[in-house]
Amino acid sequence: MKSGNGVEILPSILAADFSKMGEEVLAAVQGGADGLHIDIMDGQFVPPITFGSQMIKDIKPYVAQVPMEVHLMVHEPIKMVQELSEIGVKSVIIHSEACLDLEATLLSIKSHGMQSGVAIKPDTHVDAIEGILDQLDIVLAMTVEPGYGGQKYIETVEPKIKLLRELIEKGNLLTKLEVDGGINESTIRSAYRAGATRFVCGSAIFGESKDIKNQIIKLREAIHIS
Ligand code: DX5
Ligand code: ZN
Repeated sequence: MKSGNGVEILPSILAADFSKMGEEVLAAVQGGADGLHIDIMDGQFVPPITFGSQMIKDIKPYVAQVPMEVHLMVHEPIKMVQELSEIGVKSVIIHSEACLDLEATLLSIKSHGMQSGVAIKPDTHVDAIEGILDQLDIVLAMTVEPGYGGQKYIETVEPKIKLLRELIEKGNLLTKLEVDGGINESTIRSAYRAGATRFVCGSAIFGESKDIKNQIIKLREAIHIS
């Protein structure tokens, strides 16, 4: 890992300018992104509709060797697993709240050769996934309500992040702990101290007049500035 301390920064393309997506993705990759976070929303599990697998196919040539992670905010995410694996997606994160059969969905992701992750909303308790934590490559604690970029970081999720970190350590698990929502230069350190090491950042990286490459560097630095 690039930062040497396990920290991974994943730009979320939701905040990029869709009219120049390739260019912005390339800047993020050149700026040292550890992965690309791609939010698919269906207008049902969450109100907005973003994009589908065609977008992922189109940006793939710009992504180079950086892994693509898809965050599925859709009902019945199992239906998308095969097409995502065919495109070459590395990891798929689903919502426990969106699956009819969570275990079957995770099994499908695995059997298609991808890493699996489960996201939980700010109000969803750790109990919802504690029993399957050891099966997950990634656990994602949402630090905003899913659906929109640019929202404010919900600090009260931090005790849950701490609890997840404790469970991971106690069980000697390899599960990575990710946070998504409102992560910027002012909040990243606090989420890191609570126990997260994978950070999804949308509006802190992309957006008008932002130097994408430099933003990623600044976010890494912010973790270590007290
Ligand atoms: C929200 C998405 C996030 C979003 C984060 O539902 O899952 O990935 O892009 O955006 P920021 O970083 O702007 O909060
Ligand atoms: Zn996301």
